[in-house]
Formats: sequence, C-alpha cells, structure tokens
Amino acid sequence: MRAKIVAANWKMNKALPQAIELMQAITFGLRQNPASCKVVIAPPFVYLERLVTETTGLAEVAAQNCCSRNNGAYTGEVSAGMIESVGATYCIVGHSERRQLYAETPDVLEAKLQRCYDHNLTPIFCIGENHLERTEERHFEVVAQQLEYVLFNFTVEHAAKTVIAYEPVWAIGTGLTASPEQAQEMHSFIRRQIATKFGQELADNITILYGGSCNAQNAAGLFTKEDIDGGLIGGAALVADDFLKICNELR
Ligand code: PGA
Repeated sequence: MRAKIVAANWKMNKALPQAIELMQAITFGLRQNPASCKVVIAPPFVYLERLVTETTGLAEVAAQNCCSRNNGAYTGEVSAGMIESVGATYCIVGHSERRQLYAETPDVLEAKLQRCYDHNLTPIFCIGENHLERTEERHFEVVAQQLEYVLFNFTVEHAAKTVIAYEPVWAIGTGLTASPEQAQEMHSFIRRQIATKFGQELADNITILYGGSCNAQNAAGLFTKEDIDGGLIGGAALVADDFLKICNELR
C-alpha cells in the first residue's frame, strides 16, 4: 500500500500571524474531520519551528528547499540538518520555480536529495515538463531525463525514501490543470520508469503526487486515478477550507 499524501506548498506567502492562523484552521479542520491521507505543510523556512509546534500530530511539516551543502560559509542558506533539528520531516526538492528562477541543475538537486536522505527528511522531488516541451510532445522524454539525471543516481533504498511530485510547469499557478487523463498517463509512465530502473516492488510502493492548479473543484477527478497518490497544492492551500476539502477528496 502506498502512502497517500496531500501536501501544501505555501511558497513565499503569509506573515507569521497569518501563517499560524492558517495552520490552526487546518489542524482544527483535521481534528473535526480526520483526513484518510497524510497531510504535509510546507511553510517558509522562518516559520518551520513555530508551525511544528502547532501540528499536534495531525500534520507534518516540510521545508520548501534545502542547501546542497552540509554546513559552512554559505550565507543565507539553510541546511537539511537544520531543518531536521526543528522537527520538520519532509523537504521539497527541485520545484520548477527553483529550477527556473534559481538555476538549480541536476547536480545540485542530486546533492540536495543526498542531504535529505542523510538527515531523515523525506524529499518531495518535483519533475515536470514546460509548455513548449508539452506542445512539442517531448514531455515523456523530459520527465524520463529528470528522473534519470537525479533520482536514478541513487540506490533503490534511497529511492524508496522519496516522494515524487509530477508538476507540469504549464499548470503551476496558471489555473490550467492537467486533465485527470493527462496526469494519469504521466503518473503511469513515471511508475513504469521506476519499475525499469528499481524494480516493480518500488514502482508499486512509491508515492507520486500531482501538482499544478489542483483545487477543491478538480481534486476529486485527479485523485480517483489509479496512479495518482495525492497532490502538491500551491494557491489553493492558502485557504484553509479549500485545502481541507482537497484533503478529504483523497481516500
Ligand atoms: P499551484 O502550485 O497549485 O498554485 O499551481 C503548485 C506548486 O507549485 O506546487
């Protein structure tokens, strides 16, 4: 049985009081109406420690990024060990915004995954094609390469500690969601790639999330697809009621 997860990526939103309020509204909702999936919240770094204290066992906390190095003179960076030390248990790695805006290369992402494995953080490793790659029908090739250049450099034991998030870049923050059929087609492709590289057992057990304009209206359609094990939610995760509704759509 693979883990079912709904994860919230708050990105660079909310000041501390609003972040606490949102977390409290989410935990209140989960207490009233428990979700049958794991719930993971990725706030900005500065709120990690504070928000871990708010989860009361109802959710887990993720970082949105970590440094590719362990420690040292890297001004402004935050290490996986620091994230672990404040009680967060997941870390998003390779989000398309980081790949595009902060030039994160496969080498850097490989180092970040290694840091996560070293510090007991479950990486949520993001992959997905952009609009041009989709229109040129290169999306399968692109996603296969993203796996090959990064995740496939690890052992099966490490890969087994990973959550994959398929996030077509053209769907992120655009309101354009992949249809359930498009998402399922890619999730099943990713699972086949995992099977070829690491074997069927891992392919059957690895969690693959969908991300990209997933919201309270379209989550049910996506989550009923057999290879979609949950979602990585951006915009819709900033409103507690919408996020809770999405959590409740995953059974
Ligand atoms: P979105 O973001 O739900 O706002 O499209 C998803 C993500 O970037 O993880």
